[in-house]
Amino acid sequence: MGKLAMTGGTPVRAKPWPAWPEVDERDVAAVAEVVRSGKWSRLGGTKCRQFEQAFAKYQGAKYGLGVSSGTAALEIALRAMKVGPGDEVIVPPYTFMATATAVLQVGALPIFVDIDPETYNINPDLIEGSITERTRAIIPVHFGGLACDMDRILAIARKHDLLVLEDAAHAHGARWKDKGLGTIGDAGAFSLMTGKNLAAGEAGIILTDSAELMGWCVLYHDFWRGAVRADAVESELPEGWSVRFPVLAGNDRMNEIEAALLLSQLEKLEEQTQRRAANGDYLNGLLAQIEGVRPLRRDSYVTRNSYHLLVFQYTGEGFKGLPREKFAAALQAEGIPVSTGYQRPVYQHPVFLEAQTALPKGFPVKGGYYGREIDYKEVHCPQAERLCQQETLWLGQNLFLGTRADMDDIAEAIAKVKRHVDELL
Ligand SMILES: Cc1ncc(COP(=O)(O)O)c(C=O)c1O
Repeated sequence: MGKLAMTGGTPVRAKPWPAWPEVDERDVAAVAEVVRSGKWSRLGGTKCRQFEQAFAKYQGAKYGLGVSSGTAALEIALRAMKVGPGDEVIVPPYTFMATATAVLQVGALPIFVDIDPETYNINPDLIEGSITERTRAIIPVHFGGLACDMDRILAIARKHDLLVLEDAAHAHGARWKDKGLGTIGDAGAFSLMTGKNLAAGEAGIILTDSAELMGWCVLYHDFWRGAVRADAVESELPEGWSVRFPVLAGNDRMNEIEAALLLSQLEKLEEQTQRRAANGDYLNGLLAQIEGVRPLRRDSYVTRNSYHLLVFQYTGEGFKGLPREKFAAALQAEGIPVSTGYQRPVYQHPVFLEAQTALPKGFPVKGGYYGREIDYKEVHCPQAERLCQQETLWLGQNLFLGTRADMDDIAEAIAKVKRHVDELL
């Protein structure tokens, strides 16, 4: 019997980790009130609008529009930006599928630009090399809640007349130069699905300072925009809003039950974000002292990380060549719920690799629509591929809702695996 939990020893951590979501009686009462009122739809209700205004204010934008998911938020914002067939949109490869598939859904082509290996965010040095006359927008993803280099991204966008849609699915409460993420580019798209730092099961929200863009978002998100407009930016909707069905819309409305829960959860968000930020920063300080693991680089523009995910790197030095998978399994056995994250970059999934058959009639990749052949099998982003395969480790946001002692457990588990690594070789 060894010392490590994997070889029969006692785990560092047996206590449960903080639960997510944090639910109290105010959440229950808020939802019960809407259920009893019978006003479950935003058509005739008030909660969606209240939530949109409250979250937009919290994050620092003029306008918000609640929608059905973070995926819908990305798609609707792209439609509102008039991105469509014939256009290219620059995205990072290290992200959730929806960042890139939203681009396909509007008939445009995602163009993958590799990440900075020290931040896991899109590498601004590589963006300009991928811009063509068809490029219309950039979608930077603030991965895990760590801000992208928005000064450089905005400068490139200005120079080439591109729109910037921030994928802020991980970034509630996170800041860049003290500005809320998702409020820096032309629009921001947030997910509010169950595991996110602000959650209601499924939902999303679009933020923007542009009344015109918000007007188009309203139109595209909702067949019955005539009813929604009253509680949106009525006076500033684009010309044509009052004509029935001026655009090809869908129905991605948020509902009042979700909004009531979100309003109640939003009251807790700032305090939770402070807890996560303090614990995450503290843990990163500990990780920096352990040879063989490394925190991501934190540039000075990152004024608050929301730690939706604390991403760190396993270099293996000092672990005698122990592969990452074994290291992660050993940590899990010690009671640390670490994950190795995405197994491959977005473009290595079948919907891209086999786009010609996986997409309906191969659109938009097939048929020379773009004047050039797009074959995602030829795309290579070496940094994203390498870190998916060997390097990345994720710790989820709920771990950071506890105490410093919890962080000490994580660091101790890593140190323990290192001390007894011979038991695993
Ligand atoms: C980076 C990123 N973008 C977009 C989304 C899509 O959000 P949703 O699941 O609410 O559709 C997610 C969700 O996991 C995400 O992580």
